[in-house]
Amino acid sequence: MSMNSAQIREKFLQFFADRGHQRVPSASMIPGNDPTLLFTNAGMVPFKDVFLGTDKRRYTRATSAQRCLRAGGKHNDLENVGYTARHHTFFEMLGNFSFGDYFKREAIQYAWHFLTEELQLPAEKLWVTVFTEDDEAYDIWVKEIGIPESRISRIGESDNFWSMGDTGPCGPCSEVFYDHGPEVWGGPPGTPEEDGDRYIEIWNLVFMQYNRQADGSFEPLPDPSIDTGMGLERIAAILQGVHSNYETDTFQALIHAAAKAVGVTDTESKSLRVIADHIRSCSFLIVDGVMPSNEGRGYVLRRIIRRAVRHGHLLGAKGAFFYQLVDELIQQMGDAYPELEQKRQVIEDALQREEQQFARTLERGLAILNEEIKTLQDTVIPGDVVFKLYDTYGFPVDLTADIAREQELTIDEPGFQQAMDQQRQRAQQSSQFGVDYNSQLKSSQQSKFLGYSDDQGQAAIVELFKEGQPVEQLATGEEGIVVLSETPFYAESGGQVGDTGKLVANGGEFFVTDTQYIGKAIAHHGKATTTLTLNDTVEALVDAERRNNIRRNHSATHLLHAALRNLLGDHVNQKGSLVEADRMRFDFSHFEPLTQQQITQLEQEVNTQIRANIVLDTELMSIDQAKAAGAMALFGEKYDEQVRVVTMGDFSMELCGGTHVRETGDIGLFRIINETGIASGVRRLEVMTGAAAINYTQTQQQLLNQLAAEFKTDTESVPEKVAQLQAKNKELERQKEQLQQKLAQQAGGGLISQATEINGVKAIIAELEDADPKALRGLVDDLKNQLSSGIVLLATSQANKVSLIAGVTKDLTARVKAGDLVNQAANVVGGKGGGRPDMAQAGGSNPEHLSEALATATTWLEQTLNS
Ligand code: ALA
Repeated sequence: MSMNSAQIREKFLQFFADRGHQRVPSASMIPGNDPTLLFTNAGMVPFKDVFLGTDKRRYTRATSAQRCLRAGGKHNDLENVGYTARHHTFFEMLGNFSFGDYFKREAIQYAWHFLTEELQLPAEKLWVTVFTEDDEAYDIWVKEIGIPESRISRIGESDNFWSMGDTGPCGPCSEVFYDHGPEVWGGPPGTPEEDGDRYIEIWNLVFMQYNRQADGSFEPLPDPSIDTGMGLERIAAILQGVHSNYETDTFQALIHAAAKAVGVTDTESKSLRVIADHIRSCSFLIVDGVMPSNEGRGYVLRRIIRRAVRHGHLLGAKGAFFYQLVDELIQQMGDAYPELEQKRQVIEDALQREEQQFARTLERGLAILNEEIKTLQDTVIPGDVVFKLYDTYGFPVDLTADIAREQELTIDEPGFQQAMDQQRQRAQQSSQFGVDYNSQLKSSQQSKFLGYSDDQGQAAIVELFKEGQPVEQLATGEEGIVVLSETPFYAESGGQVGDTGKLVANGGEFFVTDTQYIGKAIAHHGKATTTLTLNDTVEALVDAERRNNIRRNHSATHLLHAALRNLLGDHVNQKGSLVEADRMRFDFSHFEPLTQQQITQLEQEVNTQIRANIVLDTELMSIDQAKAAGAMALFGEKYDEQVRVVTMGDFSMELCGGTHVRETGDIGLFRIINETGIASGVRRLEVMTGAAAINYTQTQQQLLNQLAAEFKTDTESVPEKVAQLQAKNKELERQKEQLQQKLAQQAGGGLISQATEINGVKAIIAELEDADPKALRGLVDDLKNQLSSGIVLLATSQANKVSLIAGVTKDLTARVKAGDLVNQAANVVGGKGGGRPDMAQAGGSNPEHLSEALATATTWLEQTLNS
């Protein structure tokens, strides 16, 4: 009976409604008022208090299809998504509940009735487990339902005692399994092969009896109750005659939408499954009010989105694709969950924003990770690398672990934790330092700043500090702080760094390495080569060249600010700046990266203003006058009553306390050397001016010349040369692949002549040297075709990995299963595998036993064919 997921959901709810159960709509995935739980991870969560007896409902039987999330917390499947046929972060749990009403007998009868009569699943495909000591449930299954004892097993606490979390309702349970048939590898519950995908748990019947306490003890519930859960996705797979949940209607629709959004046609890829799973959890989390962030539930959401985005990029996605799947999700699930449509815009916006934000650092982070992986000595990615990816590139730890797993590597989690702790300590120390530093230094002085017009001047020492304490004297060789009555040194403020230079006195010097404010005093930090005493007169000399570079960069920020607003619009506001001698950076509000063309336009506009050689005008006025004149002020800054207004013709007018050039022509040249995003909606430009900009331009030119020389052409032709080389490379790649295929075919030709006969059946069992494991499958197909009836087992090894693949032509699968054959060999090389009766694959890790493995498989085949 083939039903789509919506029909199955409805059939279940109706079945239990017909049996006196109240239909209860799905609750949010964020448990209300429950600090013990991160997410709703089972259908019973909204009923927790009813089980505990602290909440009463007007019904004692209920049924629901509850949206659940198992990512983070006690039940966490995030890491398995994509790797198995049946794990999800988000799934729907169909459940029936009894609150002190019926107990084991009815729960078992209902389940059996629903599965075998309503859904008409063949009874012989169902297996059952009960808790080791639960004779009562065992007897109901065997004596009343009539399940053969060969298909029921007793299992311990690990699988047959269910708890909601570390505390809360719990009890022994009985699970129903479905046998997907011998073509799938795996064994019944309780056997060593139970982790395979053949026997899949579909329904869990929990006999709720206890409330687990924080100390681990169990308190009986007021009334024995029933909680059951059946994953809609799993039962849908069975009813739709497919093995993997990802082959069901809902997932196929999402997978196809994902394939379209990322631009691929092969819908089998693991990454598409990951994306199809994650769009559900992410969209529903946002529906339930969670937004991506760096803590708690928001961080779980961020991790899932980033994992999905990374898998999209793995498939070659260009630009944001993930949010585009919301539409298909609404088509699939919007009827059952109308809140999806209601919040469509919010979901799409949040996903797109997060995706764009992460895409900016993803490529760079991946490049760094790949470099690190190349230099690994073992199979563990060190904690500090994991930390760097986390800290600088926004890679959640499980994302790095996911990438590692694809390459059969692991990550050093304790090492990562250690790096995190160290960073926390550093942050604490530096903030302590900041606090002490400021609170220790107290000054009542107010220094007059002379530096707008001069870069040198004479002044008296009015205050000295050594090791944070006021002193009378600084001796030769000592470090400390000098405060002057007036000074040309600019103290760091408004984004402009402090000046450096020297104070000359008593035949020696005090080298100023930085200038900072202490209150209203200007403090020169540095080291003395002479003894300085309070009231000494010094000659203060600012490092004029450095200061002039700083002036250029500061005036350039004003030109850039105005040019940005002209080009992009009035939403552009300065968000911060750093004006240094060798470069400056300017942060501003804007929602998307600048294009190369915009950057070029900005450079042209600013350079035009430089060539116009506008004379700067500075004026002191009241803040109100300044605002009335239209001066740009930084929003949220605190300004004095009297402010300084810097005007550059009619191009720019800004409040500013910094030092500037006399005429814009002094800036010389303006070049933007980098554009990045630093936070959501904030862009950063890095700029060079004057000699630094010329130097930068020359270096770029030299680089281009060098490239042209390497390519033996002129600079203009470099792009064309690169294109030619790329085309040639592609052609070579293509030829290489053709040759590889030819080689494989030849190897196949050779193998055909090695076919032997075992009891009248043609068989080829061979090891291939240096074969590409991926080519083996095609080769086995070829050989099967050529033999038309026969058995093939091929093996190859690389480094310490063995690849085995077996093929059996259809006419022989009744006698020999490819999976059995491949496992005969795999056992010997320390691996196992599976597949279909006519084609199966396995891996192994002991190449040194490969000959023995093939011999074992040959002997087994002889015995099997002879029997
Ligand atoms: N609460 C039970 C489970 O999640 C039914 O498996």
